[in-house]
Amino acid sequence: MKRFAKVVILVAAPLLTAAIWLDKQPSYKPYQAPVLSPPPDSVPVSGKEIVPQEAGQKNPVAPTEESLAAGKALFEINCVMCHGQTSAERGPVGKKLVPPPPALDHDMVHGLSDTTIFTAITQGFGRMPPFQNKLTPRERWELVNFLRTRR
Ligand code: HEC
Repeated sequence: MKRFAKVVILVAAPLLTAAIWLDKQPSYKPYQAPVLSPPPDSVPVSGKEIVPQEAGQKNPVAPTEESLAAGKALFEINCVMCHGQTSAERGPVGKKLVPPPPALDHDMVHGLSDTTIFTAITQGFGRMPPFQNKLTPRERWELVNFLRTRR
């Protein structure tokens, strides 16, 4: 019996050592929080997004034809229900709000800087919901570009 115990210990010891050694791997363990840093240009989905001053001062997206077309499509999907297709009439949701949302017409938009509009879309504004988790920064700048062309 004593011999048997010795054999068990002799066999088990290296196996245990190997098991501990094998446990140190770069692979994920169950329930382990991700340890890798996020890929560049990924969008935060929690917490408040910091809008850097320098990014705010200058719109990094040029108002090209594609940018304006993208902005128009984004506006129709995300904003028209409140602010309206044209500045003349608010959208179906906007009509229910008292007071209604601003028309975002040419004069009003020109009174706002790119940063102000970008921040309003990012963080929300009064009764307007934030779009930080719904639109990428680029999409928000495309909206700013489009709003500048809206009548
Ligand atoms: C749920 C309705 C709703 C939606 C959707 C919405 N807005 Fe608004 N928005 C408002 C309201 C209401 C205000 C005015 C704030 C207030 O009175 O509380 C406003 C204000 C604004 C302002 C003025 C900010 C300022 O500084 O004066 C801008 C710019 C704007 N919205 C842009 C947008 C854009 C772009 C979208 C789409 C991405 C959008 N909004 C989607 C309701 C909405």
